[in-house]
Amino acid sequence: MSLRIPPARVHVPAEDRLAILREIDEALATGQLTLGKHVKLFEESFARMAGTRFAVAVNSGTSALEIPLRILEVRDKTVLVPSNTFFATAAAVIHAGGRPRFVDADPATFGVSLNAIKERLTDDTAGVIVVHIAGIVTPEMPSIREFCQERGLFLLEDAAHAQGCSVNGQPAGTFGDAAAFSFYPTKVMTSAEGGMIVTDRKDVYEEALAYRDQGKTDFLSNFHTRLGYNWRMSEPHAIIGRSQLNRLNEFIAVRNRIARIYDEGLKDLPGITPLSLPDGCHSNYYKYIALLDSDADRKPFKQLLREEFEVGLSGEVYDTPCHLQPIFAEFRTGEFPGATDICGRHVCLPIHAAMKDEDAHYVVSSVTEAIENLLKGTLV
Ligand SMILES: Cc1ncc(COP(=O)(O)O)c(C=O)c1O
Repeated sequence: MSLRIPPARVHVPAEDRLAILREIDEALATGQLTLGKHVKLFEESFARMAGTRFAVAVNSGTSALEIPLRILEVRDKTVLVPSNTFFATAAAVIHAGGRPRFVDADPATFGVSLNAIKERLTDDTAGVIVVHIAGIVTPEMPSIREFCQERGLFLLEDAAHAQGCSVNGQPAGTFGDAAAFSFYPTKVMTSAEGGMIVTDRKDVYEEALAYRDQGKTDFLSNFHTRLGYNWRMSEPHAIIGRSQLNRLNEFIAVRNRIARIYDEGLKDLPGITPLSLPDGCHSNYYKYIALLDSDADRKPFKQLLREEFEVGLSGEVYDTPCHLQPIFAEFRTGEFPGATDICGRHVCLPIHAAMKDEDAHYVVSSVTEAIENLLKGTLV
């Protein structure tokens, strides 16, 4: 069924598609198809946008996590990981030889608080991963960074959701030893598949270059000093990524405008509460999150929106926290009431860079009616 309002949409404007095709054609003609000039230019412009000294382009957000974890030496050590995150954040720790130890979520930010990190610290903890869920960067980042520095812990930002985000003027990706971005098609900007490691540390940068290309000392050598992998980014991916990066501010402005319409339209509705951004946080609104009351069931609510109003809500940010994922059963120690609660009762309203204001107003009126039905108990 085609929806009047789809939950998300990849947006590559027509003129950009033509420019992308021309550049891919040139790459095909020259035969320079991987780790070439477009990858280099993409890295340089992404580092400039993120406010870091270095950037290394890779083939996914997942490898952008695993490479720094290998460099930061997590083997046989514990790494604190939010329970409210994507599978890949915790899996990357395991692939790099470490053990994830989950940290409960702060319902105010969907991320982790400094207190929650402190509570979960152990003697063998090597470092902490924070995830800027939905583009929300917690104002606690400077204190988290300070705490990690005092304790000799590394800080890695999983910024898969957070291209162009900041808190109190400081960009996501500049707080830790390194940060990992994803350009998966659903993200605020895409390279089809791809990821980017950013860092201010020259040693991390140089090691990342080696790791992404089979652990070689340089592109043309056959001399391997690290257990790297084929984590390279191709030129066609970099061409798409560069084009999307040029649009990033524009995309974020549209998403913020849509978010303001939702904030305003939903603020007095009973039964549903938009997640408000912490003070000082500039979000890219990768997702627009709202919480249903704790006794509400989101399934019939979403079904009504889809079937009666043709409004598609995407999947949740995460409906199952990592501590409840079967594959992580052996790492399930402790209690995570915050993560369990928010994963169970939030919804994500449609948002994308090609959305029109009138679409957002239609979503508000549809949600208003659907919520009335939900509260009257007429939804089954
Ligand atoms: C929080 C988080 N971390 C890591 C990833 C992995 O990124 P990718 O799909 O590009 O490998 C994602 C992606 O989808 C994500 O949402």
